[in-house]
Amino acid sequence: MASTPLIADKTYLRYFWHPVCTLQEFHRDSSGGLRPLGLKLLGQDIVIARLDGKLTAMRDQCAHRHAKLSIGRIKQDGENDRLECPYHGWQYDTQGICRAIPACPDLPIPKKARTDVYDCEVRYDIVWVRLDASYACEIPIFSDWNAPGMKIAVVDSYVWNTSAERRWENFTDFSHFAFVHPGTLYDPAFARPPITRVDRIGGELRFSIEPPRAMLDQLPENSPLGAFNYRCSMPYTVNLEIALYRKPERFVLWTTSSPIDDARCRNFMIIARADDGLPDEIHIDFQKRVLMEDQPIIESQAPHDLSTDELSMATDKVSIQYRKWLRELSLAALAGKSEFEAALYTDVIETARTVQAPVCP
Ligand code: FES
Ligand SMILES: [Fe+2]
Repeated sequence: MASTPLIADKTYLRYFWHPVCTLQEFHRDSSGGLRPLGLKLLGQDIVIARLDGKLTAMRDQCAHRHAKLSIGRIKQDGENDRLECPYHGWQYDTQGICRAIPACPDLPIPKKARTDVYDCEVRYDIVWVRLDASYACEIPIFSDWNAPGMKIAVVDSYVWNTSAERRWENFTDFSHFAFVHPGTLYDPAFARPPITRVDRIGGELRFSIEPPRAMLDQLPENSPLGAFNYRCSMPYTVNLEIALYRKPERFVLWTTSSPIDDARCRNFMIIARADDGLPDEIHIDFQKRVLMEDQPIIESQAPHDLSTDELSMATDKVSIQYRKWLRELSLAALAGKSEFEAALYTDVIETARTVQAPVCP
């Protein structure tokens, strides 16, 4: 029997900001901004181009015969930059309006000769795009971008064959640590995870756990074991702040997933730590090792999209709460702006404040 998608309507995702590439990747893949760059977000082909000194995001489709603008070129027209279609040379400005049709320069340019323009911002050295600005949404928080004394590493993005929802759940799943990351992130002797309180505050899902200190002996030196504090800007970002057990320092692992479509996501990571004198690669390689442990399992989950016929246990509480909020956001977005903004920004605080200590089996 075919499974039913848990979230029937994904329109709501268009109102959120999503990362599409790191700034470094944009420079690398656009020859330093001299060429446009084609990407995909939520199944939509988009083109990023530096026009008039600013990054601009547009629908990657010429109004004329629908060629991809991303394989065109950037052309100077007097003071202004234009994105030129590769097929017949129509030229688009920063508003997506066609300003020149070389085949018929004496005819007026039709009003419909334009392509959609999307909000585009650079934050945390990452390029963010929002496909629909009708509802109020902020770019997700990263707690330590400007934190004094913290060393920041923005990691190259990577693509997984799964949905952004499954990637998020993987990152915040406490009961997989003992099975997928024994000796890397966790001591399998502590297979029973805590059940944490889960709050909604300011558009973020927040929760905390304190893995047993006794695991320190079993884990490598650079495994960031400590008290985990999660701030998760909906729908796909996790700001995981770790108060390390080994030394009185913080370590922040920030990750977010960008839905290329329902079956693929592009993932971003930033690592922030006190300047420990170590090269970034030490920490990046460790995180890559963790990702390699996760990837084959997460890509094996079928379907890639969340489905209604999965079985949850009490220890899946974070996932249960996450799915509940996603469903609410999806439905509220269909109801209207005020309903969506209320669903996103109304705080829901759990009354049981105690974080249960993990129990040894
Ligand atoms: S398809 Fe773009 S100019 Fe003809
Ligand atoms: Fe994992």
